Amino acid sequence: MAKQMVFRFLFSWITIFYFFSVDAQIKSISNKVDSVLSLMSIDEKVGQLNQYSGDWDEAIGPITKDGDKQNQIKKGLVGAMLNVKGVAHAKQLQLMAMQSRLKIPLLFGQDVIHGYKTTFPIPLAEAASWDLEAIELSARIAATEAAASGVQWTFAPMVDIARDPRWGRVMEGAGEDTYLGSLIAKARVKGFQGKGLGNMDAVMACAKHYAAYGAAIGGRDYNSVDMSDRTLWEVYLPPFKAALDAGATTFMTSFNDLNGIPATGNKYLLRTILKGKWNFKGFVVSDWGAVGEMINHGFVKNNTEAALAAIYAGCDMDMESRSYKNHLSQLVKEGKLPIAFVDEAVKRILTKKFELGLFDNPFKFFDELREKNELNNVEHAKAARDIARKSIVLLKNENQLLPLSPSLKSIAVIGPLAKEVKQNLGFWSIEWPNDSSYITSQWQGISNKISRNTKLLYAKGAGITDTSRAGFAEAILTAKQADVVIITVGEARDMSGEAKSRSNIHLPGVQEELIKAVAAIGKPIIVIISAGRPLIFNWTTDHIPAILYTWWLGSEAGNAIADVIFGDYNPSGKLPMSFPMAEGQIPIYYNHFNTGRPANNDSDRFYRSAYIDLSIYPKYEFGYGLSYTTFNYSNLQLSKQKIKKDETITVSFNITNTGKYAGEEVAQLYLRDKFASVVRPVKELKNFRKILLQPGETKTIHFIIDKEKLSFYNAQMKWGTEPGEFDIMVGTSSKKILLQKSFTLIQ
Ligand code: GLC
Repeated sequence: MAKQMVFRFLFSWITIFYFFSVDAQIKSISNKVDSVLSLMSIDEKVGQLNQYSGDWDEAIGPITKDGDKQNQIKKGLVGAMLNVKGVAHAKQLQLMAMQSRLKIPLLFGQDVIHGYKTTFPIPLAEAASWDLEAIELSARIAATEAAASGVQWTFAPMVDIARDPRWGRVMEGAGEDTYLGSLIAKARVKGFQGKGLGNMDAVMACAKHYAAYGAAIGGRDYNSVDMSDRTLWEVYLPPFKAALDAGATTFMTSFNDLNGIPATGNKYLLRTILKGKWNFKGFVVSDWGAVGEMINHGFVKNNTEAALAAIYAGCDMDMESRSYKNHLSQLVKEGKLPIAFVDEAVKRILTKKFELGLFDNPFKFFDELREKNELNNVEHAKAARDIARKSIVLLKNENQLLPLSPSLKSIAVIGPLAKEVKQNLGFWSIEWPNDSSYITSQWQGISNKISRNTKLLYAKGAGITDTSRAGFAEAILTAKQADVVIITVGEARDMSGEAKSRSNIHLPGVQEELIKAVAAIGKPIIVIISAGRPLIFNWTTDHIPAILYTWWLGSEAGNAIADVIFGDYNPSGKLPMSFPMAEGQIPIYYNHFNTGRPANNDSDRFYRSAYIDLSIYPKYEFGYGLSYTTFNYSNLQLSKQKIKKDETITVSFNITNTGKYAGEEVAQLYLRDKFASVVRPVKELKNFRKILLQPGETKTIHFIIDKEKLSFYNAQMKWGTEPGEFDIMVGTSSKKILLQKSFTLIQ
């Protein structure tokens, strides 16, 4: 008894001490910020809101080509830089900042989207792994390498939900589903920020692009977005809230206008929601030039008005438009802008610089030896290979053609991507122009794996985008000499990413004709497809026995693909986006409403919302992906048939590995609210579990359904539940529902 008393006493004092110390720390930073602010001139304050890009070339030559950035840094008129690569480069600029009157340190930001030197799969590929721990580790390693290289701030995670694969930036996010996207947003923020700002391997995360950028009309990048408040709050905002709840220290405004108001000048988004309702304490940076682009939007007449609109709306930092730098001081001096708006933004930015420890030591992140040791070491490469394997999606495997034996007599590898090296990095990878030694091509990965006696044959067959069929003959000849043929096709890495929208998302060029021509000889064929988005390849799907979707897998691409082809890893990926059969089906997503004339009606065409020339359903659905083994789902149990709104239901079911390979399965739980005061989707992902099962092994999965999972925005946009019947669907994809039961929410 006495021991317990002592323990309780000590625990309570330690807790009190901890909270007082954190509280004291916050107070001390706030006091320090206030004291720096009190010393600053208006120009120095505006300087903190000004961010410039470094030069694009690698040499540490003259730091700037454009204007007098160096002098502005020396005068304390620049708060942050981006695209400054490497410790030596950053140190030069920081030394200049230390020449300024108040010696306020610079912040260095970079698009560390999926790795720094060790390059991880593109974020959409990582989303296909459904492995939140692996995704967090990927961001953690990216942060470790970036921080060692002088970066304190990454412009990631991009958390834009996207239902339109024509949009090139789907490669940068987590796909079409809000629930999966929110969990991935949280994992990435935690990975980037690690144990918190101030740690040597932590970088500030940046939730972007706020908001609804992925809903650009027509899938055209930068295009307008027009949506109901309900769709905004139910589909597009939750991943941002998840990022904020995970501690994201910065947000970035998006280029698009939302319902007529550009995001960068959108008070509703920035002040009412982000800094108001959500109480965000970090700072908001505009996207590149987006403050000034409000002129193009027709929202303001000039940069003076742009600066005023953006600072009023709550945008704290101006990336590269120079509107703040050139006009804010004057606006304050003319009494058109209360200094309080500038002070609020400056305080938010200075607070982060203090939390990072930059005021204590502006050079704390600039250690060239650490930089050398951290970049792309063996451990990091191992982690990259692991998540790359987990991101591969097996779309088809007729007659178990895969996995191949590594001791086959001969294998032909055909296609424009077989020997490509840098293509594997995808868009938004950090460029290392003089080094590609850290990247494993598909050809190299396969060569590393096969036996000494296996003959590996190669033919390019065709280019990625060219229309020449001149290489077909050689490809056919080469295929004829092999036991098995691997054809590797896809997009070029720069066909997805920013400003890379495509109106036609078929396999580019004559690649599908190459597949047809080689398939005609009748050899066993495996097709590998690399891309930054869902593509359309209907003929291939219908005629080729084995297909792997490999996205862009980063520096370990070749090894990861070979691990799957030869069975050292059993593919477990599941699609995070729907794959359309035709561009005409877009936007296409699984969690759609039923409509008054559901497309699956078998009545005549006046009673079903379908196309007269095509199904409304995708070629491959959200959540789809095969394995080398098979899984059986059974014994679905609900802990209750009826619940009140503050009660929960436990959903239990068994999964058995009924095949001969050990494998991971992503069991998915979908819910349908069958009747409500507003129409509800035909199904919504509400939970999933990725589990490893040995052959013959059975595991029981338990999911808890609580009020949060049953809630939605009603006609008055009030979040909550309504009594009624719900369907519970459990399956291996959004279409392949294997178990189903219903329950009733009675109040
Ligand atoms: C780009 C992108 C944004 C990126 C920024 C800095 O235009 O839209 O995602 O972080 O500029 O490179």
